[in-house]
Amino acid sequence: MRILVTGGAGFIGSHFVDRFIAEGNQVWALDNLRSGSRTNVNPKAKFILMDLKDAALESEVAQIRPEAVFHLAAQIDVRVSCSDPIFDATENIIATLRLIEVGLKNEMRFFGFASSGGAIYGEASNGPQSEIHLEVPMNPYGVAKLAIDKYLHSYSVQRSLKSVSLRFSNVYGPRQGAKGEAGVVAVFAKLLRDGKPPRINGDGLQTRDFVYAPDLAEAASMVLKQRATGVFNLGTGIETTILDLAKNLCSIADMDDSLIQHGSAIQGEQRRSVLDPSKAARELVWNPRTSFAHGLKTTYDWFVANRSVE
Ligand SMILES: NC(=O)c1ccc[n+]([C@@H]2O[C@H](COP(=O)([O-])OP(=O)(O)OC[C@H]3O[C@@H](n4cnc5c(N)ncnc54)[C@H](O)[C@@H]3O)[C@@H](O)[C@H]2O)c1
Repeated sequence: MRILVTGGAGFIGSHFVDRFIAEGNQVWALDNLRSGSRTNVNPKAKFILMDLKDAALESEVAQIRPEAVFHLAAQIDVRVSCSDPIFDATENIIATLRLIEVGLKNEMRFFGFASSGGAIYGEASNGPQSEIHLEVPMNPYGVAKLAIDKYLHSYSVQRSLKSVSLRFSNVYGPRQGAKGEAGVVAVFAKLLRDGKPPRINGDGLQTRDFVYAPDLAEAASMVLKQRATGVFNLGTGIETTILDLAKNLCSIADMDDSLIQHGSAIQGEQRRSVLDPSKAARELVWNPRTSFAHGLKTTYDWFVANRSVE
């Protein structure tokens, strides 16, 4: 199959590229390298250095004629979305609609979208949130993700486009940059690699649902093979406190966890975040197969092997 992965030089997108290549597809990775890196891109993929807003997108896609597009390129910083919602909407809504329109003109038959559970459902006060949970995005980033989920439904009705919105929980794994505010695993792993203890915002009892990026790539491949459509939560359903995460990583890095530091809590930070992935288990027969212990070890080892990564 001819598959185009946008954000293919980024953290999660590069794992999608690897998976599609390993399964014998012809893969193009398109990225403007704003936060991605050329070194993440599988050498068997064709790399296109391009911004989605570039006028040349149309001729590029016309040449590739991708049967499937997986769209992971995005403005991923929640704080930027709050300080500049117009920029965020231009990147995350308008550029996405343009990509869909260009794809449709060029025989694209399937569109996979990297959406976000945590950003759409809000506080998980009552435990794991399923796809029918109230949609209450708390910031422009979440509004944009939800908007595209809804646009894709409208494209399926109006233009018969088959698509899937994959609502990820908190993703971690090798190649995640430590600069992003969502990447707490990467932030702690990098500190430990540099011999510094993790620094937690607040008491550390806030929870997240950590899912391993290559497990998401496996889900994407299953979705494509099954031509599954609609909205799917992709998480583990397991809540981990940030304190437990820090302790686990200290143990992997051989650091005494009594050195863990606490800063002040961030005002407005989500207390609990956890997705119910049972729809994906039932309909896709997908289960996140990587244990947290193994995923953390692999991620830490990657940071050690890539000392220049910030
Ligand atoms: N990391 C998470 O925990 C998480 C959770 C939910 C959803 N997501 C979504 O998954 C996707 C991938 O996120 P990630 O964590 O891998 O981030 P990332 O920053 O590593 O990947 C995004 C990639 O898109 C590229 N890009 C950004 N704007 C572009 C543009 N206009 N044109 C071309 N390329 C552009 C960047 O250079 C980068 O390589 C995003 O859509 C993100 O919103 C991530």
